[in-house]
Amino acid sequence: METAIATIKLTLRKIQVFKGGSEAVFLGYEDYGLKLFRARDLAVRACARQEEAAWHGLAPEVYGGVNVYHLSQNLIHQMQMENCLFKPRPEMFGYETELVKMMEYGEYCYREFEIEELTMRLEDLFGQEIHDLRMPNVGVLNSKVVAIDFGEYTFHECPNLYK
Ligand SMILES: Nc1ncnc2c1ncn2[C@@H]1O[C@H](COP(=O)(O)OP(=O)(O)O)[C@@H](O)[C@H]1O
Ligand SMILES: [Mg+2]
Repeated sequence: METAIATIKLTLRKIQVFKGGSEAVFLGYEDYGLKLFRARDLAVRACARQEEAAWHGLAPEVYGGVNVYHLSQNLIHQMQMENCLFKPRPEMFGYETELVKMMEYGEYCYREFEIEELTMRLEDLFGQEIHDLRMPNVGVLNSKVVAIDFGEYTFHECPNLYK
């Protein structure tokens, strides 16, 4: 698996959406998203899982691989204002991804069966139980429900890929 390949300076420029999760910070640009993690191995693992799932049509595409991002002070400050659940660091690790449409609660309930089916397909693919495939961790892409959170809380360990 390819690890960090480039160092990129990141400022507030052109960021349209901030979402601070518990493991990742998501920055939304006009036509792609950027997912940032505190540690390189977290980013590499999430990226590899997402690539594998995307190959099977179960996740948004990953564009390229994991890079190192140097965050400006303004950006760090903004992230702290935007309810990021962990302390952003000046150096973070991440990858670019295709954007999905997030669901409102009504649509999420309506699509519950599809989400169960998606969970089963991911469990078959990765050979393990998948946790936490709830509303903030699924989205819609080309009218299909896909998974967007490939962090450790969802996956714990991935024996097929890393052992
Ligand atoms: N590909 C994507 N397209 C659009 N929004 C996304 C995408 N990936 C993540 N997000 C947004 O960012 C939030 C946090 O991302 P997530 O990967 O779930 O991080 P965490 O592991 O910290 O929960 C999501 O709930 C969603 O709102
Ligand atoms: Mg999440």
